[in-house]
Amino acid sequence: MTLESERLLLTPWEQEDWQPFHAHLASDPRVMRYITGGVPWTEEQAREFVTRQQRHYLSLGYCMWKLTLKAEKAECSLAGFCGIQPIVIEGEQSVEIGWWLAERLWGQGLATEAARAALADAYGRCALERIIAFAVPENLASRNVMEKIGLTYLRDAVYRGSQVVVYAGGSV
Ligand SMILES: CC(C)(COP(=O)(O)OP(=O)(O)OC[C@H]1O[C@@H](n2cnc3c(N)ncnc32)[C@H](O)[C@@H]1OP(=O)(O)O)[C@@H](O)C(=O)NCCC(=O)NCCS
Repeated sequence: MTLESERLLLTPWEQEDWQPFHAHLASDPRVMRYITGGVPWTEEQAREFVTRQQRHYLSLGYCMWKLTLKAEKAECSLAGFCGIQPIVIEGEQSVEIGWWLAERLWGQGLATEAARAALADAYGRCALERIIAFAVPENLASRNVMEKIGLTYLRDAVYRGSQVVVYAGGSV
């Protein structure tokens, strides 16, 4: 299946996508700044991410969708990802929405555009009632996307040893 926004296609992953995902996103310290403190993921971590998203799609019908720019479809270039996945924060099971974009594409409203499409699908086709998002407090770009798609600040929490802010939407 394919979700669509004005400029983007949101699709499930192919196994070989791990390579451009690693090359253009997961090994870029600028992309990883607020994820790992700038430490690149290994190739193995990128492979595991793609495999995990494929598993989510097969078992749940949703995942962190692969993003492709419609204008670049012919080259099949990977723009990033945006979508939903199960998450446990401080023992609470939720579904989170998240996004990573290749650095060359920042600042054009693309994350917000993708997130609106993914969120509409989450509430609509997936019939989810509540979606959360979280980030380290300094990640202002990501927090702005959360606010622009209608999520509101819920609480501070600790996730894998990092202090994070949690936002929520739907039946908060
Ligand atoms: C977070 C990310 C996806 C945002 O992508 P994007 O396409 O540039 O986002 P958008 O353009 O849709 O919106 C970002 C908003 O934050 C603002 N913004 C961007 N950088 C900012 C900064 N350093 N400080 C404050 N605001 C900032 C933008 O101006 C924009 O707001 P506006 O539309 O009101 O002007 C992108 O920065 C990214 O991939 N970061 C690395 C991965 C990451 O951290 N993911 C989130 C993990 S929680």
